Amino acid sequence: MVVLGDVATIGNILDRKSGITGDRPPFIKQPNSIFEGGSLASTISISRKWRAKRRAIHVNLNVHATARFNPMQEHEAASLALGFLIHPEISLVQHTHRFSASVIFRCLYGGDPIPFKGVDRSKRLSELTEVIGRAVQPQQSVVDILPFLKPVIWNVKWLRKQADDWFDEVEVEANHLWDSAVPSDNWDAITSVHDLNLHMGKYGLPKPQAVWNTLSLFLAGQETTDATLQVFVLAMLHHPQEARKAQEQLDAVCGDRPPTFDDRDNLRSIVAIMKETLRWRTISPLGLPHRASQVREFEYRGYFIPKGTILLSNIWGETHDSAVYTDPDTFDPSRFLTSSGALAPTKPDTREDQHPFGHGRRICPGRDFANNSLFIAFAWMLWAFNFEWPRDEEGRDIVCGVDEFVDKGTVTGPREFGVVFRARKAKLKETLEAAVRL
Ligand code: HEM
Repeated sequence: MVVLGDVATIGNILDRKSGITGDRPPFIKQPNSIFEGGSLASTISISRKWRAKRRAIHVNLNVHATARFNPMQEHEAASLALGFLIHPEISLVQHTHRFSASVIFRCLYGGDPIPFKGVDRSKRLSELTEVIGRAVQPQQSVVDILPFLKPVIWNVKWLRKQADDWFDEVEVEANHLWDSAVPSDNWDAITSVHDLNLHMGKYGLPKPQAVWNTLSLFLAGQETTDATLQVFVLAMLHHPQEARKAQEQLDAVCGDRPPTFDDRDNLRSIVAIMKETLRWRTISPLGLPHRASQVREFEYRGYFIPKGTILLSNIWGETHDSAVYTDPDTFDPSRFLTSSGALAPTKPDTREDQHPFGHGRRICPGRDFANNSLFIAFAWMLWAFNFEWPRDEEGRDIVCGVDEFVDKGTVTGPREFGVVFRARKAKLKETLEAAVRL
């Protein structure tokens, strides 16, 4: 196993040599075998099946295609803000979780938003995400450490029982969701399931694989978006001056009407805050492991990297590489802006605003959808509210530190913390209620 730790090395190996470093290792417990029968796009090896899955995702969620979901994402951002206002008794984590689940669920399966309280159609999927998230980390299972045990576990039914039951349950759930999906969302945008239903043959994906492909997008997209939203709130609480700058721009551009995607070109502070949030406390600090697949080995600066080597991208090291990011531990959105407030061009050869989304052939195919969800959620939250720490009985702020993070498998995020949202617009409730009315 080789851990790659800075922008130049990761770029040279995982981007420029992507053809021979884009494979995934055979996670023994989880993908390709025991847990999910080799069905998740994010964990299978480079193969015809992976290419078909990746193509179907790309067609659905590339930067142009994903724009069809913008009205739905604006609607979800309005629901998020309304939830903060009318349900302060619900924790921040529950609100961000609901938003992230609802936005991806509606893109895949359509239907109404997941409600603040009551039946959450995505609940089981979220629980399954956690199991997968832990299983994909190397060394998470006894069979990863002692691979010779794999055939024993594979062949003895009761040893496999837990994984088999898990697989059966997920298949039932995934098929049920697929069969109950609607053709379009409430704004006539074709849902991913409907697109796959229409074009399975063209993508080369038989139905069982298309069902898993849809599921894998929920697994990859929900928790990542959720954790990033929590990092954003933490950053705004610690850096109110950055929130204020963005709010001044929002007020100048939007006044008393809420922001929309059409405002994005004029809301550069929000875009810069989004890039900085993703960089400052990147929520997938080790990404997903890659694997070298050159026939024998390849050479990099005097090191020989044999076929089969696991290549871990230290995304944290990359997003805190002082050769690219000055003073990397400081939350400073202005690093993505020019002195006149325009978005700064990416520094040559760095791909600097893409690092949190991984590398090469495996780069996150949901990044445009994710960026849209984050942009519009951040914009609505900053437009609608000032953020404050909750106070204890003696009036002291109850603060969560900038390093108080917890590990949730492949994703890390802040520990649970509180926030008080103070309305900053007159008639906010009426405006938000009007925006969430379908
Ligand atoms: C803040 C949000 C997100 C972050 C930071 C993020 C980050 C990542 C990273 C680091 C990888 C691994 C890339 C590599 O191996 O080099 C990845 C893979 C992936 N992501 Fe995301 N992601 C996000 C949201 C999403 C969303 C919303 C979706 C789907 C709608 C998605 C779908 C996927 C898929 C399918 C893969 C596997 C790609 C493959 O192995 O070919 N992600 N993501």
